[in-house]
Amino acid sequence: MPKESMWRQRRVPVPKRTIELVALMAISSTLFLFLHTRDLHSRLKKMEVRLQPGEDDVLSANQLSSDGIQTDSDTNSIVHYPNVQRVLVGQYEDREALDIDALNNTRRSDREVLFFNRVPKVGSQTFMELLRRLSIKNGFSFNRDRVQRVETIRLAPIEQLHLARMVSSYSEPSVYVKHVCFTNFTEFHLPEPIYINIVRDPVERVISWYYYVRAPWYYVERKQIFPDLPLPDPNWLKKDFESCVLKGDRECRYLQGEIHEGIGDHRRQTLFFCGHSEKCTPFNTVGALERAKLAVEKHYAVVGVLEDINTTLTVLENYIPRFFQGATDVYYDQVNSFTRINRNFFKPPVSEEVKNLVRNNFTREVEFYQFCKQRLYRQYRALKLQSGVP
Ligand SMILES: *[C@@H]1O[C@H](CO)[C@@H](O)[C@H](O)[C@H]1NC(C)=O
Ligand SMILES: *[C@@H]1O[C@H](CO)[C@@H](O)[C@H](O)[C@H]1NC(C)=O
Ligand SMILES: *[C@@H]1O[C@H](CO)[C@@H](O)[C@H](O)[C@H]1NC(C)=O
Ligand SMILES: *[C@@H]1O[C@H](CO)[C@@H](O)[C@H](O)[C@H]1NC(C)=O
Repeated sequence: MPKESMWRQRRVPVPKRTIELVALMAISSTLFLFLHTRDLHSRLKKMEVRLQPGEDDVLSANQLSSDGIQTDSDTNSIVHYPNVQRVLVGQYEDREALDIDALNNTRRSDREVLFFNRVPKVGSQTFMELLRRLSIKNGFSFNRDRVQRVETIRLAPIEQLHLARMVSSYSEPSVYVKHVCFTNFTEFHLPEPIYINIVRDPVERVISWYYYVRAPWYYVERKQIFPDLPLPDPNWLKKDFESCVLKGDRECRYLQGEIHEGIGDHRRQTLFFCGHSEKCTPFNTVGALERAKLAVEKHYAVVGVLEDINTTLTVLENYIPRFFQGATDVYYDQVNSFTRINRNFFKPPVSEEVKNLVRNNFTREVEFYQFCKQRLYRQYRALKLQSGVP
């Protein structure tokens, strides 16, 4: 090869040689770019956060009961947040001026396209079903991504752009649903969609996930879609959450600032709001919390709360009426009965002691959850003020 090029260089006249030189430079820089891209690509691959078991689909709506409150086996456990509670009371006492327009991000969207970047294990199956039914009633198109072998929720910038472009290309009004981090359309100079999401008590969510990935139907269904998937270790399947936490098992240790990428890292609800940045990755950090809060405040029209379906539905109906009018009726007439079929019966109760052990390490996640809840209630109270109801 070098021989040939030398031979060529000797033989060709000057202008041709220049051309070849240019060509050579072009080829080598392409090669360089290619290598560089590959390097970037493999680095990105490493950064990817994987929601291994592609949390899908037929099953996840389990945690809703007839009155819309979660009914995993531990229905009446009451959660106490000693620190946050005080903050909450403080805010109520403020008698804040509730500016309904300031609380209404739907007004600031550029297109009638709803972007629901659903968080796994937060009853999003139920909400998808609700949206599907509403799409018929209220006349909008419903779109969601396919079942993935591995759900990649953090995307490289170019993939974010592709996603944002695709969603922006939907005709109005449309809904798009996907497990993915908050994607900032404005950053790509694309029209802002109407962002929505649902959150759940972070500890309940982690427990739910723990048993969800161990449920028998989960493997049967995954195996049907992806026959070559290996079966899990029986000892892993038999391990219960309590002993996992109490024995300090790796899977159930939640360490501040830890970057625990890869399969099954499913602990941070904030990740879905913080975005694709690597600053969002470390577990339970202030930085990720603040970014997540900012995205909610600035972009999300509504972030519902699984534990309070009624308030969530009322706020959705009033702040995003184009999509959600009549949502409460549709939910109670049609969706709720459907979701009860899919409850996870394989979820044993977890003691308050163990939950509190976990909760102690989920401080930012708890704070974020409380933040979303407060905002939902502020939106709700603003409605009451507006309609003259005390
Ligand atoms: C909570 O964090 C502490 C200190 O970082 C750690 O020692 C402990 O194992 C963690 N507990 C759980 C249940 O993750
Ligand atoms: C989204 O992008 C816009 C434009 O770059 C920026 O002004 C805004 O702060 C971003 N939002 C978040 C939550 O980062
Ligand atoms: C929620 O609303 C439904 C239907 O309006 C009602 O039957 C139910 O009691 C409400 N649940 C709560 C907890 O308020
Ligand atoms: C919020 O804004 C949307 C879009 O402009 C509007 O349809 C809806 O009625 C508003 N909701 C409230 C409570 O102001």
